[in-house]
Amino acid sequence: MNEAGAVAVVGMGLMGRSIAACLLGAGHRVTGVTDDLRASAAVPQKIAAMLEEMHREGLLQEKPAAAILRFRLTADLREIAAAEIVFESVTEDLNLKRQLLSQIEQIVAATCILASNTSALPVSLMQEGAAHPERILGVHWDEPAHVTRFMEIIPGERTSPACVARVAELAPCWGKEPSQLRREIRGFITNRISYAIFREACHLVESGVCTVEDVDRSLRNDVGWWIPFAGPFRYMDLMGVEAYYRVMGDLLPDLSTEREIPRLMREVVESGGRGIRNGRGFYRYTEEEAAAWEQRFLEFNYRIRRLTQEFTGPCGGEKKIEEG
Ligand SMILES: NC(=O)c1ccc[n+]([C@@H]2O[C@H](COP(=O)([O-])OP(=O)(O)OC[C@H]3O[C@@H](n4cnc5c(N)ncnc54)[C@H](O)[C@@H]3O)[C@@H](O)[C@H]2O)c1
Repeated sequence: MNEAGAVAVVGMGLMGRSIAACLLGAGHRVTGVTDDLRASAAVPQKIAAMLEEMHREGLLQEKPAAAILRFRLTADLREIAAAEIVFESVTEDLNLKRQLLSQIEQIVAATCILASNTSALPVSLMQEGAAHPERILGVHWDEPAHVTRFMEIIPGERTSPACVARVAELAPCWGKEPSQLRREIRGFITNRISYAIFREACHLVESGVCTVEDVDRSLRNDVGWWIPFAGPFRYMDLMGVEAYYRVMGDLLPDLSTEREIPRLMREVVESGGRGIRNGRGFYRYTEEEAAAWEQRFLEFNYRIRRLTQEFTGPCGGEKKIEEG
């Protein structure tokens, strides 16, 4: 497949839309599949707006009006028959995803790659009962997928190495700098590490050590300062590995190993808090404040992308740096 190849995105929610915008920006013909045409009526407009924004920010050279012509929205799964890769991005539910993959298998060619954007489900469970499990794998995107460089490629037990290699080869064309897992593990790389942070953050607040604001401020100004530049291993090298060795011995036994959902988290969610979506999360938001945070986050994404590119080179260039 070349960049102009036909691809499909199944699920036109938050992530499906930005994945579609990313793939259109890379030159693909994209069929977006929804389960509810009426609820998705604004999807083409939303994707067109993302393409405009990518153009304005220098991520898309082509005219956005030309790129959106390659997008087609449908509720009929049969319209993805010509796709060479299908990106599944429906609700995180194993049975739903498995059932959908089985339906998709009956429509597409045996060589079509089936990539699930699951956040944490084991790919091998999705391969159960598949006619061609070797072409099913996890391709984990990050939101907003049309801007971020993140991508994790996760093989299931029965995924063929050729399938993994093909996605890894295409990822830089989508503006991504992928990490390839050697074997699957729940939560993959980034969610495992992020959730360790979320757990400790809740623990600190629940134990009365500091406030939600204090945690956010400290993290932004410490980890947030260096992490776009260097991962944890490069950072420990930069600072001097031995110091981390000493601190680990003292500190690790003290960190939270809680296995239940933290109380702080339960209180927010079980009382109906959904974050900026309804103005109630760990903080409160008016509608204007919620919209402003969303907008600032998007602007920050473009800036951090430019900054990262400046230091580590375009996607695909990182490898050179890592190899010295
Ligand atoms: N939101 C994130 O930041 C994020 C990040 C990485 C991965 N993911 C994963 O991506 C997937 C989608 O997440 P999201 O945040 O876009 O959720 P979402 O709820 O915004 O969207 C899911 C969409 O799937 C649609 N859908 C459900 N069944 C369908 C079917 N049979 N056919 C077509 N469409 C169907 C729903 O109508 C909905 O629009 C999940 O697996 C999630 O875990 C999300």
